[in-house]
Amino acid sequence: MSVTAQTTSGHVVGRVEDVPPGEGRAFVAGDVQVAVFRLRDGSLHATQAACPHAGGPLADGQTDADVLVCPLHLYAYRWRDGSSTSGNAPVQVYPVHEEDGHLVVQL
Ligand code: FES
Repeated sequence: MSVTAQTTSGHVVGRVEDVPPGEGRAFVAGDVQVAVFRLRDGSLHATQAACPHAGGPLADGQTDADVLVCPLHLYAYRWRDGSSTSGNAPVQVYPVHEEDGHLVVQL
């Protein structure tokens, strides 16, 4: 995790290449721990860092085009709105975009 800077469009948490394609990484945006994912299609997603079930490290989860799967108990959360595919508590999702090679998360 790294300290962030704030711009008018959000919190700069790192560079796009800090997140290898198909993986996630944990960052701090302001005072919020977030997980940022770069899918193999190049799309970016961000969620809260800790799983709402039991605090699992979501940045280490498996992903596909539709969902993030927590590594601890395999609950799946939809990128679209953070809802759980099994009816459990949702995960917080945040808008994230690339700006001049930087990852910018909006809280
Ligand atoms: S901690 Fe994530 S599914 Fe249990």
